[in-house]
Amino acid sequence: MSETFTKTMARNIFYGGSLFFILVFLGLIFHTTRVLPERDHRENITPQVVLGKKLWEDNNCIGCHTLMGEGAYFAPELANVYQRLGESKDAIISFIKYRPAEGVPGRRSMPQFNLSDEELDALAEFLKWTSEINDGDWPPNIQG
Ligand code: HEC
Repeated sequence: MSETFTKTMARNIFYGGSLFFILVFLGLIFHTTRVLPERDHRENITPQVVLGKKLWEDNNCIGCHTLMGEGAYFAPELANVYQRLGESKDAIISFIKYRPAEGVPGRRSMPQFNLSDEELDALAEFLKWTSEINDGDWPPNIQG
């Protein structure tokens, strides 16, 4: 066998390596599309959850908060706020509803959004639904 590294050998490594990783990625895509519907429990997406997601976007909650690790690091992670506040939608609603209009003196805090009861309920439903996504136990602790 020749001791030199030939062009043919380089080409074979290139094609063989490419094919190997294409197969690995196809396998991962297949696996993801198979397990995702169970993990995100999409059958529980109600019209309230959809409205809550829209309000989440319209009010730019992610400009301060993270949700499942994505977003800004100014305010607490909210993917597990439902558990943190004692599995209570009312606790989430009260928190958002009773923010002081003029803010908390001396520091930047969560604003008052003046949302209707229906909107508050939708946001709480959205955060509850998010908290029940199987996201590999993220965040790793209850504080977020
Ligand atoms: C300007 C930044 C900012 C925006 C925008 C914001 N928040 Fe907050 N939020 C905070 C801060 C800061 C806290 C922590 C409590 C505090 O200091 O006021 C907080 C706390 C919370 C909590 C309680 C968290 C806990 O662990 O007790 C909830 C629930 C919440 N926000 C929901 C929302 C929702 C829903 C929206 C969008 C409608 C939103 N926030 C938009 C800054 C923000």
